[in-house]
Amino acid sequence: MELNTEIKTSTDPIFNKISKVIPEIEWKIHAPLIYKINKLKKEKNAVVLAHNYQTPEIYHGIADFAADSLALAIEASKTKADIIIMCGVHFMAETAKLMSPKKKVLLPDMSAGCSLSSSITGNDVRLLKQKYPGVPVVSYVNTSADVKSETDICCTSANAVKVVESLGAKKVIFLPDDYLAKYVASNTSVEIISWKGTCIVHEQFTAKEINEIKEQNPGIVIIAHPECPPDVINASDFAGSTSGMSEYVKKNQPKKVMMVTECSMSDNIQVENPKVQFIKPCNLCPYMKKITLPKILDCLEKENNEIIIPDNLIKKARLAVERMTDIGR
Ligand code: 13P
Ligand code: SF4
Repeated sequence: MELNTEIKTSTDPIFNKISKVIPEIEWKIHAPLIYKINKLKKEKNAVVLAHNYQTPEIYHGIADFAADSLALAIEASKTKADIIIMCGVHFMAETAKLMSPKKKVLLPDMSAGCSLSSSITGNDVRLLKQKYPGVPVVSYVNTSADVKSETDICCTSANAVKVVESLGAKKVIFLPDDYLAKYVASNTSVEIISWKGTCIVHEQFTAKEINEIKEQNPGIVIIAHPECPPDVINASDFAGSTSGMSEYVKKNQPKKVMMVTECSMSDNIQVENPKVQFIKPCNLCPYMKKITLPKILDCLEKENNEIIIPDNLIKKARLAVERMTDIGR
């Protein structure tokens, strides 16, 4: 199949940028979809917000803004677009709706969930609050609007320690990621009551694997997401949010690096850092990978898969997210 001149002219600059991570044979399938999505976006005044774990054809091909979950929440509150297409998972689309309740927020696949978000319900939080009266609740942004509505303040991996310390409390309920809670506990003197949620992507990494990679690649820099188990973080040189990891590579330009996180991160960042060699043992997030170009086009054409949250829930849940964005990074 040959691409017509109009599609080629509009998409060739993108392919030239990402040809190192996408084979030409695949590009011929992506290019017409990228062309149509970018055209329709303009016609409908829609914006595509994409998480760093989205595939390179989404991240570099159609995203107006690609970042970590904190930056996506902030961007959603600022956008002038009428429609927000969230290329990420359900809690990210819900967070965008909380930050921009008047906008139409669409998620190309409604079954794009998250193991952390599904590990806890609003009722679980109510029970925890009964068990620990007066102890403030910090919820990871990877939670449902229902959980956020029972939360004092949200956080992301970019600001978890800062958010916990901002409360000036001796003890804090921190949920639902047990590993992120352990990471926070090791970086603050605040007592942390945690929940047993885990990320199915990051919990799979082991310190043994990291140490073997270090032995095989002398001088390699290891950077990990704080959702990893504590011994993996201890075996790493740096821990940070997805955008934190990306910034680290951009700033330090290590010769060889391994990103202990979701697979698309290295591909996306490789494009922007051609001199850095990426060693790529990684784990796929099956939820993030539910978002594809055909589903994005379909969703934008039909304007379906809209995120709807009752007004009373928006009011309560939004407060916790706004307190977080006020604190920033
Ligand atoms: P970030 O907030 O670091 O982008 O992480 C979100 C996420 O889902 C990581 O698994
Ligand atoms: Fe959730 Fe983990 Fe996937 Fe992030 S990588 S969306 S935390 S399951």
